[in-house]
Amino acid sequence: MDNKKILLSGIKPTGRPHIGNYFGALKQWVTFQEEYNSFIFIPDYHALTTVQDGSLMRSFSLDLAIDLLAIGLDPNKVTLFKQSDVPEVTELTWIFNCLTTMPYLMRAHAFKDAEAKNKDINVGIFDYPILMAADILMQDANLVPVGQDQKQHVEYARDIAEKFNRIFGETFTLPESYILDTVAVVPGIDGQKMSKSYNNHIPLFAKDDEIKSLVAKIVTDSKTPNEAKDPESDNIFALHKLFSSTEELQTIESRYKNGEIGYKESKDILTQNMINFITPMRQKREEIAKNPDYVKDILKTGGQKARARAMEKMQLVKEKTGLQF
Ligand code: ADP
Ligand code: TRP
Repeated sequence: MDNKKILLSGIKPTGRPHIGNYFGALKQWVTFQEEYNSFIFIPDYHALTTVQDGSLMRSFSLDLAIDLLAIGLDPNKVTLFKQSDVPEVTELTWIFNCLTTMPYLMRAHAFKDAEAKNKDINVGIFDYPILMAADILMQDANLVPVGQDQKQHVEYARDIAEKFNRIFGETFTLPESYILDTVAVVPGIDGQKMSKSYNNHIPLFAKDDEIKSLVAKIVTDSKTPNEAKDPESDNIFALHKLFSSTEELQTIESRYKNGEIGYKESKDILTQNMINFITPMRQKREEIAKNPDYVKDILKTGGQKARARAMEKMQLVKEKTGLQF
């Protein structure tokens, strides 16, 4: 365990995870849980920038922990925790704030997008990348598996580590993001990036009826069944890539090109494949959900472990910065 590299990643408790989250990030966490010393957490302080209702925050966090267990994260292999159980990250955020300039943070994509949309931007949203850097650097993460939209945030963490190390001496490990090209941006039912905030997502634990009605809504052009179609420009085909075997995908591809399949049939195949994939995971989720105390215990134990490491790291940071005699 000790010579394994450290993996860290998280998903915010802001609602039900979707298949974009799963293929873009969560699945990689499961794949790597043997090979890395893994820390997977629920960034509730980050979620507080948008979720401002105590009972909702609690239920989103617990539900998400259940989701993470249901996809196959094994609490004996992975340290699963809630960000707010490691309050030292907010202390480290302050220290990093003092090393970071405003113009640098104003260049963050997420901030620029929010500004372009004229959103009411709270200080938490502005400072979001710094808190994320604290999450990553606190645990000395080597690898951070995420979707494409988080790439810049991991680069920020790397820059901040370099800056701190330059000023105060070698203290933090430089992290790297891990992004799988083929699933870096999973499209939603309208062809844009799948996202909770665009309301174009298919929930990972969706029930059969929900899957059927969402797949039915996937946007296509108006080609008739026997017209030749370009699979690469079709939103249904983009999702076939996630749910079909290689062989089945090849068949569907050639049927598209030869005008041998209509969108209705293509959607029916996708619906069935999604149902087959999601059902066992949803059943496992239902089992785990019967025992919320078991899930809370896992988070508590994980939080203690992550916090013990954080306290040790903060000791070093305080020595380096002179915050401690
Ligand atoms: P959302 O955009 O739906 O609010 P989150 O910000 O909670 O999603 O993202 C959690 C993780 O899932 C991150 O690593 C993010 O990069 C990844 N992710 C989110 N949407 C997608 C997508 N459409 N394709 C690939 N990865 C994604
Ligand atoms: N910002 C990430 C997201 O929206 C969530 C997150 C917070 C995270 N801290 C992190 C991801 C540290 C990886 C590492 O998806």
